[in-house]
Amino acid sequence: MNQTLHQNIPQISFSKPYLFAEEEAAAAAAIASGWIVGGPKLAELEQLFAQAVGVSYAVGVSSWTTGAFLVLHAWGIGSGDEVIVPSYSFIATANVVRHVGATPVFCDIDLATHNLDVNHVASLITPRTRAIIPVDQLGMPCDIDAINELAARHNLHVLQDAACAIGSQSQNRPVGKDAEVAVFSLHARKLVTCGEGGMVVTNDEQLAHKLRLLRHQGMDLNDFQRHQADRPLVESYPVIGYNTRLTDIQAGVAVVQMGRLSEILRLRRQVAEHYQQRLSHCSQLRLPQEPKNCLGNWQSYMVALSSDAGITPLELMTALHSQGIPTRRGVMAAHLEPCYQEVSIAIIPPLPKTEYAIAHNFQLPIHPTLSEQQIDYVCDRFLLLLN
Ligand SMILES: Cc1ncc(COP(=O)(O)O)c(C=O)c1O
Repeated sequence: MNQTLHQNIPQISFSKPYLFAEEEAAAAAAIASGWIVGGPKLAELEQLFAQAVGVSYAVGVSSWTTGAFLVLHAWGIGSGDEVIVPSYSFIATANVVRHVGATPVFCDIDLATHNLDVNHVASLITPRTRAIIPVDQLGMPCDIDAINELAARHNLHVLQDAACAIGSQSQNRPVGKDAEVAVFSLHARKLVTCGEGGMVVTNDEQLAHKLRLLRHQGMDLNDFQRHQADRPLVESYPVIGYNTRLTDIQAGVAVVQMGRLSEILRLRRQVAEHYQQRLSHCSQLRLPQEPKNCLGNWQSYMVALSSDAGITPLELMTALHSQGIPTRRGVMAAHLEPCYQEVSIAIIPPLPKTEYAIAHNFQLPIHPTLSEQQIDYVCDRFLLLLN
């Protein structure tokens, strides 16, 4: 690391959860209460989430991955079915399709938003297609209205992958409100976190009921209901389920985090605006833009480096790393990974925009406690390498 240039700059984290003593106390309180799982905190978190998104039901699960799997399973999607997903996403988006035995069909993206290209999705629909999984990539809202319209025309389910998008807005509405089902992640890199966790939101009462059964071995009573009953209750198991619950320790932490959401959104926006202002004049970069009438939550800050920059993203990232600046490649492309190379695992049409994005994009540090001084340091070093 170049010590001279890095003097007085506190060490820069690429990402950092915004957790304080209140979260610690909430975890301790759940432990002290004896309700570490199956207790009342999860219900409180679910209510807060449903309210924040503006839907009737929220079902807490152990991760986005397990939540999305349960939804596809509850819809009866399986072997012989196709589900259209962007390759340009974290690999979990495609993996859940394989988990239920169906075939992911990879679609391309729009390079302005890095969200799926609805016209390309339309061209991939076959009689075997059962669902579309649009992603709000890095928290930037996808065009859910256009996707819903296409899905309605072909009688397809829509599972919105809002893993990164809590607090984002599309057409003045919270992301997640307008999909048949949306699933959020509570992983450590998300705005609201408890380490790991997920939240499925929907207005579909029957689906929410089924998900509650499926997340707990198909059991029709939860522990808290049994505890509160005035007589011994015997549960039954109408469906074969899984164990994908969120614990009450996690839920306690996430309840406190939900109370911080507006502050987290404000602080992240400040960081993003500072980057935009410092980097906007640089012709070798394409900066992230919020889609029209949308507000992103700035979960990440991804830039595209032009082909004529005279330096590759990897060279730039390596040089920044040596100066104490952590970066990450842009979003991955699932179709390029070894596990998706085998024929019949997935349908892979040409994906030129995805492959362009893979070659040109990378991410700069962003989190609520990144100081102006740190952002300036990142931008100074970064711009020097480009000139
Ligand atoms: C777009 C997207 N989908 C799904 C996931 C998976 O979420 P989880 O780790 O909660 O399973 C992530 C996690 O980073 C993600 O970014």
